[in-house]
Amino acid sequence: MKMLAGNWKMNTTPQEGLALLDALVNGLTPERIGEVHLVVAPPFTHLWASVQRLWDFPEISVAAQNCHEQASGAYTGEVSLPMLKDLDVDAVLLGHSERRQYFGETDRQIASKLRAALNAEISPILCVGETLEERKSGREWEVVQHQLQVALADVSADEAHNVVVAYEPVWAIGTGEVASPEQAQEMHARIRTWLRERFDADTASIMALLYGGSVKPDNAAALFGQKDINGGLIGGASLKADDFLALLDALRSA
Ligand code: 13P
Repeated sequence: MKMLAGNWKMNTTPQEGLALLDALVNGLTPERIGEVHLVVAPPFTHLWASVQRLWDFPEISVAAQNCHEQASGAYTGEVSLPMLKDLDVDAVLLGHSERRQYFGETDRQIASKLRAALNAEISPILCVGETLEERKSGREWEVVQHQLQVALADVSADEAHNVVVAYEPVWAIGTGEVASPEQAQEMHARIRTWLRERFDADTASIMALLYGGSVKPDNAAALFGQKDINGGLIGGASLKADDFLALLDALRSA
């Protein structure tokens, strides 16, 4: 499955977000979408309006950028999976490096959220990736493998079909320093092999593996052309409809 997901992060007001969605859908035709599954992840404040705006576009899913692992309770400021489900939200980003870095999310917490998302029938997009320091010391696979091991410890092969893994090297996020296609492919191949051993060959081939980190229209074709890269998780370039559409074109024809 090819997938292009836009993580808007803490950008756009609700009005700006809806204008961005309008610009996006105005540029879409069934031919342009092709076999690509599109996902947009606006901030919580515009999820409901986004779902409504996209009623007529079942090929575009709406994702939340985070969730709490409990269904309800005294967790001021948090948003639960039943709340998201009730809004018809399809997916949720989990373990984004910004959540890990700035909000102290641990692998165990991410595993609990992933479990809860699967129980709520909301598809998790699990983000993994190493820091620059970890890569410099040659530990990138050790780090990513550990993140996968903990997050997916409690997941069956059937459930894993609904999980998307996004490899986002922290050093490439928002920095303009993109992983080379070879670096990205090498990590994706390792993740695919690990998934095959952890689950089975069918599951590993069905699961979408996305690359994220400074993907732009001028570097997308080379990344998306790699064998184990099924698409992208896009930050900055998802905030400009023309750029996101250019990435869609690159992925569709990859
Ligand atoms: P950029 O595309 O802005 O580097 O962000 C990537 C990302 O973090 C997507 O989740």
